[in-house]
Amino acid sequence: MDEVLELPDIQGTVLRGRPNPYFGVYLVFRIEDPSDAATLIERLIPHLTSAADWEHPAEEAWINIVFSHEGLRVLGLDPAILGAFPRELQQGMAARSALLGDVGRSAPDHWVMPHALKGFHLALHVMAASPELRDQKVALGEAEVAQSKGVTLLYRLEVGMPPTKREHFGFVDGLTRPYIQGQGGEPLPGQTVSAPGEFVLGYRNAKGERAEGPGPEEFWRNGTYVSLRMLYQDVALFRKFLHDHADDSYAQELLAAQMMGRWRSGCPLHKSPTEDRPELAIDPMQNNNFSYYDSDPEGHITPLGSHIRRANPRDGLKDSIADPKLHLLLRRGSAYGPVLPEGVMEDDGIDRGLVLAVINAYPARQFEFVQSQWINDGDFISQGERTDPIIGRRDRADDFLVYQPRRKRICGLAEFTLTRGGEHLFLPGLGGLRWLVGHLRSRLGS
Ligand code: HEM
Repeated sequence: MDEVLELPDIQGTVLRGRPNPYFGVYLVFRIEDPSDAATLIERLIPHLTSAADWEHPAEEAWINIVFSHEGLRVLGLDPAILGAFPRELQQGMAARSALLGDVGRSAPDHWVMPHALKGFHLALHVMAASPELRDQKVALGEAEVAQSKGVTLLYRLEVGMPPTKREHFGFVDGLTRPYIQGQGGEPLPGQTVSAPGEFVLGYRNAKGERAEGPGPEEFWRNGTYVSLRMLYQDVALFRKFLHDHADDSYAQELLAAQMMGRWRSGCPLHKSPTEDRPELAIDPMQNNNFSYYDSDPEGHITPLGSHIRRANPRDGLKDSIADPKLHLLLRRGSAYGPVLPEGVMEDDGIDRGLVLAVINAYPARQFEFVQSQWINDGDFISQGERTDPIIGRRDRADDFLVYQPRRKRICGLAEFTLTRGGEHLFLPGLGGLRWLVGHLRSRLGS
C-alpha cells in the first residue's frame, strides 16, 4: 500500500508547481549571530507555506526556507549531526565543481551567486502568481529580518516567467515531473511513478529502503535536499549556432528540437518527428506519453544525445545496468533576467538564464549523477565524450549526431550555458524547523 505524504509538514515548494505566470525571488542570507538567527527562524516558521492542498492552494503565493551545511554549522547544530549529512552537503557544491563539469568560465571563481563558503547560510524563496502577492510575501520575510541582527542579506535574485512564456532559449519548460506515490491523484499517461523516499525523507525509496537523514528523526522527517543551480544562458550564441548550422527557419527549428528532444512549443519530437504540433504540447494526456526502447532505440527520432533523453532516458537504457528510477529529478526551474529581443544575434551583455532547484533525497545519485554522467558524458549511450548539446561542458567534445532529414554530425557546439552559482541545501520539514530551533536554544543555553 502507498505511504501517504504528511503534506502539512512538508514545505510547499516540494510539491507545488510554479504558478503560470510566476513571480519569484531568492533572498540569500549570511548568519551573523546564531542566537538572533535562531529567534528569527522561530518567528519565520508561521509564515512558511506547507504542501497541504498543493493542488488547489487557498493562497497563490508561498515562502520557504533552506539552509546550507555551513549555515547549520554557524548556527551551532550538534557536530555529530553535521557529520551525518551526505558528503555532498558537507563539502558544498563549489568543492565538487570538477565532478559537476563547472570548469573554465563555469568555475566557482566566476560565480555571482555566493556559495556556502562565501556566506550562503540560509535562503528564503518566494514564489507567487502576481508581483503584488510576491511583494506581500517578501515584505513579511523582510519585516521579520529587519527586527533581527542575526542575518545579513547577501544576494537577491528575482525570477519570473518571461513575457514569451518560455525559457530564454525559446522552449516551453516545466512539462515533465515524476508522479510521487502518496502525493494524491493519479499519474498522467507516461508520467514516471516514483517512490516517495526519492524526494522526501522518512518514506520508502526506490530501493525499498526508508530514506533517512542526519540526527534524530524529528529533525529530518518530511525534509529533503535541494541542489540549486544558477545557469547563465547565452541566447545570442544559441541563436547564431542554429542560424549557422541550418539552411532555413524550418531547419533551424528542427535542429533546436533535436538538441532538446522537444519542439520549442514543448511538443515531443517523438510524437511528431517532422513538424511542430503545439496542440500535443498542451495536452497532458499526450505530452509525456512516450518512451524510447521499442520505437526509437537508436535515437533516429529523438537523438540519444538530446537534452531530455540524456536527463531522463526513460526506458531507453533497459538493456544496460543503469536504473533510471534511481536518478529521477524533481525540477523547479525559473527564469531570471530580461528576454533578448526576438531575432537579435549579438549579445547585449545582460545577465539572463535559469535558476534550477532540483529536489532530491540523494543528491549524489540524483542531481550529481545526472549532471556528471548523463549531461556531461556520453559513455552511457556509447557516445564517448560527447555531452548535452544545450547545457553540456564544452572542454570535451563539441559535436552532436542527428538522423533527420539524414544522418549528420553537427560540429561546433558552443558554451550556450555557464554556471553562475550553485549549492546543495537542506530543506527541513516544518516540524524539523521547530526541532532545530529547540535544539539550538538548548545548545546556546538561551
Ligand atoms: C539553462 C539550462 C536548462 C534549460 C534551458 C533546460 C530546459 C529544459 C526543457 C525546455 C525541458 C523540456 C520540458 C520539460 O520536460 O519539462 C527540460 C527537461 C528536463 N531537464 Fe532541463 N534545462 C536546463 C538545465 C537542466 C539541468 C542542469 C538538468 C539536470 C542536471 C536538467 C534536467 C532536465 C530533466 C530531468 C528534464 C525532463 C526530461 C524528461 O523527463 O523527459 N535540465 N529542460
